[in-house]
Amino acid sequence: MTDSYENVEELLRATNPQKPVYCIYPRVYQDRTKDFLDGFPGRVLYAVKANNDPGVLKQIFEAGVRHFDCASLPEIELISRVCPGATMYHMNPVRYEGDARRAQEEYGVRHFVVDHHSGLAPLIDEIDPKNSVIFARMAVSHESALENLSAKFGARPENIPALLTAISDTGAEPALAFNVGTGVTDPEAYAYAIGVAKDALEQIPFQIRLLDIGGGFPKSYPGLTVPSLDEYFARIRSAAEELNLADNGELLAEPGRALSAPGLSAVTRVLLRKTDRIYLNDGIYGAFWELRFMGHLLYPCRSFRNGTPLAGETKAFKIFGPTCDSTDILPARVALPANIEVGDHIEFGSLGAYSLSGRTDFNGFYSDNVVSFTNKNARPPE
Ligand SMILES: Cc1ncc(COP(=O)(O)O)c(C=O)c1O
Repeated sequence: MTDSYENVEELLRATNPQKPVYCIYPRVYQDRTKDFLDGFPGRVLYAVKANNDPGVLKQIFEAGVRHFDCASLPEIELISRVCPGATMYHMNPVRYEGDARRAQEEYGVRHFVVDHHSGLAPLIDEIDPKNSVIFARMAVSHESALENLSAKFGARPENIPALLTAISDTGAEPALAFNVGTGVTDPEAYAYAIGVAKDALEQIPFQIRLLDIGGGFPKSYPGLTVPSLDEYFARIRSAAEELNLADNGELLAEPGRALSAPGLSAVTRVLLRKTDRIYLNDGIYGAFWELRFMGHLLYPCRSFRNGTPLAGETKAFKIFGPTCDSTDILPARVALPANIEVGDHIEFGSLGAYSLSGRTDFNGFYSDNVVSFTNKNARPPE
């Protein structure tokens, strides 16, 4: 059961936390999820990998998402427990042996993915193809993505017709999926990828019903401003008009970051200050791990002393995490009140994606403290 507080000030005054606290802003999750569901012209699958915290999953489920993109059997088990009645999709070309069978027999999973002929027979051995949809995952990338998701998985577009035909020959329903990347900063990327899909689909003698355009819908961070979700939806809608799907054809999307990022913050504490260096109780081995890899370098933040906001002149600080590793440093300096000191708290917003789901207990620093704010007007730093 997640503890609840009115807002961040009440959390700080009531608990003066030593360890990081991860804060769910329910209203932000509700609004963001509903905007996505209303705007995307198709079926929305939340990508569980982006944030698998049960409190976050419940928010996304309660806001109306009923389909979940799962990368593994444990993610399928998690969704069946936390989001009763939801539909799970096993959308990873790699699994432990036996997991596809269990996914189908125990959890009713019907949707799977392959990206090579060699993945098809082992999958078919474990599932009932007549009761399954198998996506062929196509490699397609775009320079506007902060990270390419086709370097590891995905068949080349010229191999897609043969793969779809092989899927169809098993008796399963063939479908097509791609992932242009994560943090896709230009809506045109989806139009381009849909065009590549269209060309591949024109090479096969049958129509497919489902085209899964993956995740990648971005979120703005300090220093990285991206177009609105509506601009992505409009471009996808117009590109999809050119597709020749079967009559009951549908687009699917697998947003992770777009749904999970805005509504979660991390409240950290200053453990040590040395002139312009601040050492926090969380860092690159904790909830900030994505900063190692991604195009964004900062999260929005605000500071508190004894639960009261700190204002006044600011200064750029180097921020370190608590572990002994010298790479445990945030990639860019952060503007903080010049008088910040040990015991003050810094709340970082927009931290819901690729934070909790990948944090480690390296050096023994780990927090499982997730709370929720009840005040409808509570908003994380933007
Ligand atoms: C198969 C797949 N779907 C969806 C996503 C979610 O991407 P994003 O969080 O950028 O929306 C990812 C991210 O790694 C992925 O690999």
